[in-house]
Amino acid sequence: MAGLSGRKENRLIEAARAAAEKGDWQEAISVWEKLLKESEVDSPVEAYRGISKAKRKLGQLGRVAEVSKRFGDVPHMNESRAHVMTEIIRQNRCQRLLELGFAHGKSSAYIAACLEDIGEGHLTTIDLEKARSREPNIEQMLDSMGLSHRVEPIFAQKSYIWELTRMIQDGAGPRFDFCYIDGGHTWEVTGFGFVLVDMLLEPGGIVILDDMDWCLANSPAAKRKPAKLAKLSNDEKNAKGVRMTYELLAPQLGYRQLGEKPEFGFGWGLLQKPRH
Ligand SMILES: C[S@@+](CC[C@H](N)C(=O)[O-])C[C@H]1O[C@@H](n2cnc3c(N)ncnc32)[C@H](O)[C@@H]1O
Repeated sequence: MAGLSGRKENRLIEAARAAAEKGDWQEAISVWEKLLKESEVDSPVEAYRGISKAKRKLGQLGRVAEVSKRFGDVPHMNESRAHVMTEIIRQNRCQRLLELGFAHGKSSAYIAACLEDIGEGHLTTIDLEKARSREPNIEQMLDSMGLSHRVEPIFAQKSYIWELTRMIQDGAGPRFDFCYIDGGHTWEVTGFGFVLVDMLLEPGGIVILDDMDWCLANSPAAKRKPAKLAKLSNDEKNAKGVRMTYELLAPQLGYRQLGEKPEFGFGWGLLQKPRH
């Protein structure tokens, strides 16, 4: 823990919760921010969620709310996830962001809206070539919000794995301080993707893993390919590749587990790369 003693940290957590209960949202924000700034709390997820809730109550939503207003019905990211994610970006001052899996580009639009509000930052995001034919597609969403200058979408032929490999091969070294991994949830793709992301991530960089409890056995898409599924053992069908990345791989690479947000569908896992 940096800076604060455990007891003082607990007092701050209680004070932030009490301020929120009283509806003193400004006070709740300042206590949560003090906690995040002065201490390496075990699980900062509650602080990110607390700040995002307080800002919603105060109507301090900026362009992020505009994305919901214009594209509320577009899959996938919803507004409450967007607020927590953008608070993580703000609190960690992330400026060079990477996203794996953008689909229609809704999460990309939320991230871009947050960067536009901050006034700096850029997102590189990767999906498959077929994402061009989605309606709306990422380019249409970003154009219509005036956010295209904040995002470079990359359309991969087979997988983000190869696009990440090309970045590593260009020799420019680590270049991102944030990565949202929300595509290709199998152990092979997520686990290897995470190793490649690690090679591109700066010390202290943040990773958010989506769909912690996804497995092939419960995947409607995998069930449509029964011959492929039949080749696997039962334990591989039930393996949670994203959770294995969080629990097995990330600690091995020295990452700090910042906590989970289980209430988000299949859940998020937050990680931070070691600073040294
Ligand atoms: C759940 S969607 C992403 C949703 C988006 N992040 C949002 O919240 O609005 C997952 C996307 O990952 C993409 N994807 C899956 N495996 C991939 C891979 N190996 N390489 C690139 N994209 C992949 C899919 O094409 C799909 O569009």
